[in-house]
Amino acid sequence: MFASLKSIASFVPSRCVNNFDFEKSIDTTHEWIVERTGIYTRHFAEDKQFTSDLAVEAGKKAIDRAGIKNSDIDMVIVATLSPDFLGMPSTACVVASKLGITDKPAFDISAACTGFIYLLSIAKSFIESGACKNILIIGSEKISSILDFNDRSTCVLFGDGAGAAVIGVTKDKEKSILDVHVSSNGDYANLLYTPIADSKSAVKQCLNMRGNEIFKIAVKTLTNDVEMILNKNNLSSKDILFFIPHQANLRIISAVAERLSFQKEQIVLTVQKYGNTSAASIPMAMNDVYESGKLKNGDLMLLDAFGGGLTWGSALVAFDGIS
Ligand code: COA
Repeated sequence: MFASLKSIASFVPSRCVNNFDFEKSIDTTHEWIVERTGIYTRHFAEDKQFTSDLAVEAGKKAIDRAGIKNSDIDMVIVATLSPDFLGMPSTACVVASKLGITDKPAFDISAACTGFIYLLSIAKSFIESGACKNILIIGSEKISSILDFNDRSTCVLFGDGAGAAVIGVTKDKEKSILDVHVSSNGDYANLLYTPIADSKSAVKQCLNMRGNEIFKIAVKTLTNDVEMILNKNNLSSKDILFFIPHQANLRIISAVAERLSFQKEQIVLTVQKYGNTSAASIPMAMNDVYESGKLKNGDLMLLDAFGGGLTWGSALVAFDGIS
């Protein structure tokens, strides 16, 4: 018995903000943002629209596309760095309640932009141990709620959104989540962090990032991680139909893809329209391939992510859903 990806879905809030909008409030230009990041637009949630609301919309669609009912879900796990509440209740509990899923385990995980890969590894273990039959996993972010809109080096990079999947059971190894690798190194925690607000020192609870240092580590780590998972599974980049990296920066993706000899047709890109949506970025990108009609049952995807912690991970995932 193997764990497999039964469905994929996403939700993008309707408010779209382009680079020219930022020119009005901070010292930046459309040209700088496009040249350094590849980002043209990103979407931001409304004030009263929370991470759980985005997650619920994506989750509903994922359950529907898996051809099951909300009551068939045995567990809900949400990856987010912008939860509805600080500490408790978890966003997953809020989401489960809004979906009418009660008396089932629901919890959040914190792995920043690597969140969705961590979700896959957890869901795979629960399914393959026989503990669960259907798990709803969701990467959801309202990063706009923790951005400092005066900090030009971070506020132009991120966006809001959610991506969800149902992980179920298959007997066919070829159509399963073939392998997942996740890792971390907390020695680099100071490169990307969100401090807890402190009324005494006026520290703002906003995302802080040392972008240039992260850039260099990201390219090296992502490349090594993909090489490792491909070698371990006796595969090469030619065996992969869709390479779906974390969508943080077009230059990082291009550098990694070039080192690994991925062709243009294999690389999935959404960073230009959504920016970096952290834990939601990979499932949102997968959903783009799905909704374009290109993702067929049995197709092999390679996912690769990197984020605060530092955390990183990769996954070899065949699509086991309805095309
Ligand atoms: N508009 C104009 N100028 C900007 C700017 C903006 N929005 N943001 C930063 N700058 C300026 C900096 O202040 C700096 O100016 P200075 O030389 O006068 O000090 C200059 O641009 C270069 O900054 P630097 O940080 O070296 O640029 P960069 O080429 O590294 O690009 C990032 C910055 C953030 C785009 C890039 O480092 C990056 O994407 N890093 C990885 C981030 C990431 O992936 N994070 C998430 C991990 S999950």
